[in-house]
Parts: sequence; structure tokens; C-alpha cells
Amino acid sequence: MKEIRAIILAAGKGTRMKSSTPKVLHTVCGEPIIQYVLDVAKEVGSKKIYAVLGHGSSQVREYLGTDIYTVEQQKLLGTADAVRCVEKQLNNYKGDVLILCGDTPLLRKSVIKNILRKHKKTNAVCTFLTAVVHNPDGYGRIIRGDSGDVVAIREDKDAVGYEREIAEINVGVYCFKSADLFKALKQIKLNPKKKEFYLTDIIEIFYENKVKIESVETEDSTEGLGINTRNDLAVAEGILRQRILKELMLSGVTIIDPKTTFIDGGVKIGEDTVIRPFTVIEKDVTIGKKCAVGPFCRIRSGSKIADHVQLGNFTEVSRSKVGPNTIMKHFGYLGDSLVGANVNIGAGAVTANYDGQAKNVTKISDGAFVGSDSVLIAPVRVGKNAYIGAGSVVTKGKSIPDSSIAVGVPAKVISKKKK
Ligand code: UD1
Ligand code: CA
Repeated sequence: MKEIRAIILAAGKGTRMKSSTPKVLHTVCGEPIIQYVLDVAKEVGSKKIYAVLGHGSSQVREYLGTDIYTVEQQKLLGTADAVRCVEKQLNNYKGDVLILCGDTPLLRKSVIKNILRKHKKTNAVCTFLTAVVHNPDGYGRIIRGDSGDVVAIREDKDAVGYEREIAEINVGVYCFKSADLFKALKQIKLNPKKKEFYLTDIIEIFYENKVKIESVETEDSTEGLGINTRNDLAVAEGILRQRILKELMLSGVTIIDPKTTFIDGGVKIGEDTVIRPFTVIEKDVTIGKKCAVGPFCRIRSGSKIADHVQLGNFTEVSRSKVGPNTIMKHFGYLGDSLVGANVNIGAGAVTANYDGQAKNVTKISDGAFVGSDSVLIAPVRVGKNAYIGAGSVVTKGKSIPDSSIAVGVPAKVISKKKK
């Protein structure tokens, strides 16, 4: 198979977002938009990935790190100009180039693979992705000739008459033979209305030169959604969330009400766990089997919940490990905590993990019982099978011995041995 390299266009200002954050760094289900595009580019086998940056480039570059090559587009002169910025880097390159926009987070690997397959099979110079949508406003329309061949892409601002009604739109994903791409880019003229060089004009140039163009249509048109406004961002969030929840349900997780359940991508949940309504689970969370979570539970990044754990209403767990069979059924907070197995955490118990300067660790050992409304001021350790009386305040630095009972404010050990 021919080598493939990818270019991700991400220099645009994202004016319509009305934000000081570069558009591609806005998040959808916990990840920046551009991350989804990078993921598909990698998953389809791109050997090198070049990101074209401009607006807010230092922020985006910092996010991308070092395994993505970045080039700077000095003036935002349009998508064709953006691609031209990578010409030097691809000077001696003979393979195919995949071009993606940094603002299309819903693309799936499978659709890109279809493009690459068709591109290879038909030996086209350009194969690109289209979608048939309910509302084509804002997108480039696909103009086809009598035989159905693609003739041109007409940008929204230039579309007139019947062209405005065309429901087949350009998603902004293209595979090109590299050398032909850069040769044709030179022929693109400035669009007089927007004062930009449109990459999409390349289609008409190819057509006029009788060069082979192919297209692939998405099966699921939501894949083509480009984020231009905060409204698009919310729509993308809704679609991606449904995909994530569906996958979890198909893997054996009960989600009582998907409409009120918010789970980020990559969260792992074991079979027969039940997620009740109004639950929020952030990225980098693992939950075991047969757990009961919610209603109104929030599990934040960096948390690992073992099997048979119950986290009930108004509980929050952040950067914490919770061992098997542990129960926290009513309101409470665990932050930076290491909680063992078979622990009972009473209603209203709180770990005070932040002392104003640093986050400190609370260790609650196997079999411990933390009474209702108690506060554990980290760093503290509660020993195995120890018992903290209701309303106690365990002060900073304390270690409650195994099998002891501690009560009061500040908590004092009153008995070494729990009955
Ligand atoms: C573009 C396409 C349109 C398609 C739509 C799909 C063009 C001319 N139009 O329109 O046919 O339907 O995407 O979402 O290509 N960018 C740069 N440098 C620039 C301008 C843009 O890097 O000078 C980047 C943006 O960051 C963005 C992408 O290119 O990631 C697309 O640009 P955008 O302005 O969003 O184009 P659309 O108007 O959405
Ligand atoms: Ca766009």
C-alpha cells in the first residue's frame, strides 16, 4: 500500500465561536475537537501528520506536542493557501495526502478508510467525502453534471439559485495524489467575495483538465458536522455522547436514562454496572463490574472504581481509588483518596483534600467505617476496620490505628479495639 501522510487544517480564526480560545481546542465530550481528527488520521495509518496553525498557534502547538509536525500559515488566506504551507515539507514525496479539517470531530475511521480504498481502487487523483444533509447552509455544495460526475464544489457564499437547494455537501476530507495536488493549487485564484483561496476550487480545475475525481458519501451524515459555532459544539456533544452511551450499553452496562447521563470518551465500565440518571463521568475513569452509580453522581478524571461499589446520590469522587464492595450511598466527597475494600462511608462524609496550597491524600483502609458527617483533613490515614464516629473531625496528619474507634472534634481514639 502507498504511503499516506495527513494534513490537518487548523489555522482558521473560528470567528463564529466568539472565543479567545482557538476553535480546535474547544472540547467535545472531554477532548479538544482537534484530538478526534488526529485520532482518525493516526488510526488510518498516516505516517506523518502536519498541522497548519495560525490563529492561537502557540496554544495549539503546545497542546499537540512533538509527534505532530506543525507549520505556520502567516496570513489566513483560505484553505488552499493553508495546504500550500506544507508544500516544502512534501517536496519529494510521491505518495497520497489525506487532508482533514481540524473542526470535524465526528468523523469515523471507517469512512476515511472507504475514501482511501476507493482512491486506490479507482486510481483517482482526488477522492473526497460528501454528505447529504437536511440543512446545507454554510457548507460547500457538490455540483454534479448530467452523468452524475462531480463538476465543482460551490461555496455557500457563492451558491445561487438551484445550487442553494443542493443537499449534498463537502465535508472537507480529501485524498490527493500529492504531486497533482500541489501542481493544481498553483492555479487556484483568489475568491473575490471572501478574498481567500478556496481549496474547493481545485475540483473544478481537475474537472476542466479531465483529471479523475471520485467521491464517497457518508452513510451517517452526522459524521460530516463541522464546528463553526457554539451551537454546533453542543450538537456535536449530543451526537458523540449518544455514540459513547450506545457502545457502553452494548458492552453490558445499564444506563437508565441516556438523556441525562454524561460520560466522556474512553471511560471503561464493567458488565452489569447500573448508571442512574443525572450522572457525570469524566475521561480517564474506570469503573468495575456490578457497581451502582447515581442518581446525581459525579466521578471525575483519574478515578478508579473497583467491582461491586455503590456511589449514591450527590456523591463526588475525584482522582481517587475505591476498592471492591465499598459503599458511599449518600452525599459526600472523596478527593485524592485511596479507599480500600468493604469500606462504609456515611452520609455527608467529606475528605478535605485541599489545604489552600496543596492537595493531600486520604487513605481509608479495608473494612473501615467512616461515620456520617465526618471530615477527614488530609493527609490522614484511617486504619483497617477502624471506626470514625459520626460528626468527627480527623485532623491533619493523624493516623487512626487499625481496629480502633475515634470520635469527636478533634477526633480522639477512645478504644483500641473495635468490638
Ligand atoms: C470549508 C469548505 C466547505 C466545507 C466545509 C466543511 C473551503 C473553502 N470550504 O468551509 O466546502 O463544506 O469546510 O466543514 O475549504 N483554515 C485554515 N486556514 C485558512 C482558512 C481555514 O487553516 O486560511 C482551516 C480552518 O481552521 C478549518 C478548516 O480550514 O479547520 C476549514 O475552514 P473553515 O473556515 O471552517 O471553512 P468552512 O467555511 O467551514
Ligand atoms: Ca468549518
